[in-house]
Order: sequence, then C-alpha cells, then structure tokens
Amino acid sequence: MKISQLPPGLCTPAIGLGCWGMSNAYGPADEKESIATIEAALAVGLHHFDTADVYGDGHNEILLGRALTGRRQDVFIATKFGFVGDEHGQVCVDGRPERVKVACEASLRRLGTEVIDLYCLHRRDKRVEIEDTVGAMADLVRAGKVRYLGLSEVSAETLRRASAVHPIAALQSEYSLFTRDTESTVLPVCRELGTALVAFSPLGRGLLTGKVKSRAELTAGDYRREMPRFAEGNLAKNSALVEALEIMALAKNGTAAQVALAWLLGQGKDILPIPGMKRRSHLQDNLGALRIQLSPDELAQLSTLSEAVQGQRHNPHNLKFIENS
Ligand SMILES: NC(=O)c1ccc[n+]([C@@H]2O[C@H](COP(=O)([O-])OP(=O)(O)OC[C@H]3O[C@@H](n4cnc5c(N)ncnc54)[C@H](OP(=O)(O)O)[C@@H]3O)[C@@H](O)[C@H]2O)c1
Repeated sequence: MKISQLPPGLCTPAIGLGCWGMSNAYGPADEKESIATIEAALAVGLHHFDTADVYGDGHNEILLGRALTGRRQDVFIATKFGFVGDEHGQVCVDGRPERVKVACEASLRRLGTEVIDLYCLHRRDKRVEIEDTVGAMADLVRAGKVRYLGLSEVSAETLRRASAVHPIAALQSEYSLFTRDTESTVLPVCRELGTALVAFSPLGRGLLTGKVKSRAELTAGDYRREMPRFAEGNLAKNSALVEALEIMALAKNGTAAQVALAWLLGQGKDILPIPGMKRRSHLQDNLGALRIQLSPDELAQLSTLSEAVQGQRHNPHNLKFIENS
C-alpha cells in the first residue's frame, strides 16, 4: 500500500467534520450552534472540514468561511462541485471544463479563501470524458487555486483514468458498517494509487447512532425521508440492527456512534471518516471513537451487520448519479 498523498497532519485526528447538516440537510440547523461546533472542532485540533457548493445552495460554504475567519492556516478545507439545476429545475451534473473553473471561483469567493485544499468532483458527468474534467481541475492546481484533487462516488476505472491525468489525493465514498460495497469496488484501487478514502455518511446518516427510531422524528424537508433505509418498515429493522453496536458500546464504556466510527478507523489508516455534526455534543461524542479499540474478532463480528440492512442507500433517482451502483 502506498502512503496517502495528503499531508500527514491531516490524519491526526483521522476524523473530519462533515458540514452538510449545518444547511438543513437532516432537519433544521441552528447557525449559532453550527459555528460553535466548528470552533469547538478547531479547539481540539480537528483540521479537516468538508463542504460543497450545492449544500444549502452556497450557504454551507459561506457559513464555513465565516467560522474559519482568521484560522485559515490551521485548517484543511475540502469542497465539491458538479451538481447544478437544469432549465427545468431538476438536479443534474455538470463536469464540463469551462464549468469547473467558474465553480471554483464561486467556491473560493464564498469560502473567503484564496486556495481550496481539496477540490472534488461531486459526481461524474457521464456526458464528459473524465480526463477532460480532471484536466480542468489540474489547471486549477497549476494556477494555485487548489492544492489537491478528489473525486466522489466514481468507479475504480474512472479513478484510474483520472489518476493518469493528475494524482487523485482522495476519493469520497459512502462507507460505514451499513454500506460496505466500497471495500470490493474502489478501495483496492485507492490503495494501489495512494488515494485516501474519505468515508462520508460514516454513521449511516444517523442510523448507526441508535438515535433515529421512527420516521415521525424526521421533519419535513429532512433528506432522509426520501431514502429507502428510512422508509416505513425498513427503518425499524435497520435500527434494531444497531443493538449489536449498543451491546459492544456498553462493554467499551462508549456509545454506538463511537463504535461505528472506531470500526471504520479499524479498516486502515487511509480511511478518513467525516461524520456530519452540527452540534457540539455530537462532536464530543464522536471524538470518543479515537479511544475505542476493537480487536480483529470484534471488527469481524460487526462487519456482518451490513448483510441484514434493509433498503438501498439511495432512491432510484439519486442512484443514477453514482458509478458502481
Ligand atoms: N461526497 C458526497 O457525495 C457526500 C454525500 C453525503 C455526505 N457527504 C459529506 O459527509 C458528511 C457526513 O455524512 P452525513 O452527514 O450524510 O451522514 P452521517 O455522518 O452518517 O450522519 C449524520 C447524522 O448523524 C447525526 N449524528 C452525528 N453524530 C452523532 C452522535 N454522536 N449521536 C447522535 N447522532 C449523531 C447528525 O446529527 P447532527 O447533524 O444533529 O449533529 C446527523 O443527523 C456530510 O456532512 C458531508 O460533508 C458527502
């Protein structure tokens, strides 16, 4: 396995902060608490902050930029581009080279920074050769606007083709105890190429914390209302699976969320989970994962959970954007 191309300091701690929820993805967000969470993360030395231009239609980048004022040198900002609205207001992907440059300038402006640490293609635009999109992203590196390049939810073949144009420092994929396809699809190629795997939705969008028990808790507009794993029937079965995590958590004097993150951290030093957290209590809880040790037997025992998960991770519309789905 090659050593990741990302700066080594980024991996201490290995956990990053996913900011999407701060723009109302999973229920309403309180801006003051979101900013306090970012400040608390900085105070404990967490460097990696993940956002995207599409989160809250720019709101998330603006919020993060504001919260990081004066701290730019201490942090690693990852943002993404690609999702846009078409003329009918439908979500689509635009990875054309001319769009890459415009999107980057807009993100830099919203974040209030001169350089983005990790610039990621959110989803591949199937109408455009990946070499062309990544070629335009590489121009941004040469222009000093971006430090590292990343892709999200692409196949192993796309990752290889992209890497032939420019090193791909990170690949974002959904990866958790409930979503493990990455292990057999892109992870081996990431390891061959020295591409870190940024594990998004590492808590199964909250399911693996054991705190989401019924659909009634999901407010109108909560993205999870449209997700099969949170559908009536599936949700009850999936949340029952978390009991195994809770039992192990009890033995470790921890929480289900900590065990779920510790399992991911136990999969390799090149796995960087970015749990979504919009409140300080969740940040504190999740950082506790760093002290949980799981033996090889415990890791293996937990790994079997994914086999019983009910429902696909996305609805058919959103699955269309994902390679390997
Ligand atoms: N590349 C991509 O396509 C992509 C896709 C999805 C997400 N992402 C990134 O990955 C990040 C994380 O993924 P995610 O937010 O989708 O899912 P996630 O991290 O699996 O779950 C987030 C949910 O779990 C809750 N939570 C977090 N810690 C908790 C704890 N200790 N106890 C109880 N509940 C807890 C959060 O609540 P609060 O919000 O209330 O704290 C939120 O509702 C996102 O923020 C985003 O930056 C990337």
